[in-house]
Amino acid sequence: MLDQINNLVEEIKSFSASSVADIEEFRIKYLSKKGKISKLFDDFRLVSFEQKKIIGEKLNEVKKLAQEKLVEINRIFETKSYKTLDIDYTLPGDPIPVGSRHPVSIVRNEIIDIFSRLGFTVSEGPEIEDDWHNFSALNFPEAHPARDMQDTFFIRKDPDILLRTHTSSAQVRVMERQKPPIRTLSPGRVFRNEAISARHHCIFHQVEGLYIDENVSFADMKQALLYFTVEMFGSNTKIRLRPSFFPFTEPSGEMDISCSLCSGRGCNVCKNTGWLEIMGCGMVDPNVLEFCGIDPVKYTGYAFGMGIERVCMLKYRVNDLRLYFENDKRFLDQFITSVI
Ligand code: DAH
Repeated sequence: MLDQINNLVEEIKSFSASSVADIEEFRIKYLSKKGKISKLFDDFRLVSFEQKKIIGEKLNEVKKLAQEKLVEINRIFETKSYKTLDIDYTLPGDPIPVGSRHPVSIVRNEIIDIFSRLGFTVSEGPEIEDDWHNFSALNFPEAHPARDMQDTFFIRKDPDILLRTHTSSAQVRVMERQKPPIRTLSPGRVFRNEAISARHHCIFHQVEGLYIDENVSFADMKQALLYFTVEMFGSNTKIRLRPSFFPFTEPSGEMDISCSLCSGRGCNVCKNTGWLEIMGCGMVDPNVLEFCGIDPVKYTGYAFGMGIERVCMLKYRVNDLRLYFENDKRFLDQFITSVI
């Protein structure tokens, strides 16, 4: 057995590799489970007691030798192949193309940025909601048409679990867990069971705003919304508020901005009215405050909600809603230079 080991030592020492396959062959031949060294270790059982010490030592030596040789031939081969590749490693790399933000993200970030200057924070709510947060706590009467199957995607009935139809549901969650003063924005995706067309989609995005404190008035709301409009659409933009109805606000309004295309003279974008509808708003209904555990005698507040795609359409003059969801690169690449 000693002779066998000595022969193996010679074999290993004189081995040289000229390809990756040779290295692998070396590993299999000497160091794998069925390799020559393993075989000798198996035979070691049969060695006589007197010889065990000397042969055992030799066996360990040859195993170590093979392991070291494997490391060495790997290293030699790596430096060899590195040197033979004709590459200048000091050349600059190929630039990785930078993507662009989706217009909906750009506008959402811009809205958040503007309102954050007035002290608004961001609080997002879940897209899957229960009836309480989407409807009941927002003062929707039992038989309100917005609860119909036509508008709402229900996931389960009794108790109702649904895809939120507006971001107003996030208001409720904020009021339930936070005490006034509250000044927050809730951006997010909403879902309505609508046929898809240039003007309607079953998925779109909204930003909800909520401000609750002592002595918050309608005038505060008007000032904040005017500030937003001027920052978003330019200093010449005017606003007007029309009376409207939402179950969760009283009084409720709808805000229009002056049409930037025709400067209020009338064109086909503003349907010759000179005004463009931009958001719903109003003073939070005392019932809603009470449902959410806030004292309606001590506190008042305003809320507003706007569609992000709607702002995008006005800002970028894109008049087909479907473009925002198709992810056509030719469309998205046009927003490449936009910041935020
Ligand atoms: N939730 C309304 C919608 O989806 C928008 C809205 C209107 C939100 C008035 C408000 C509000 O907070 O006060 O059409």
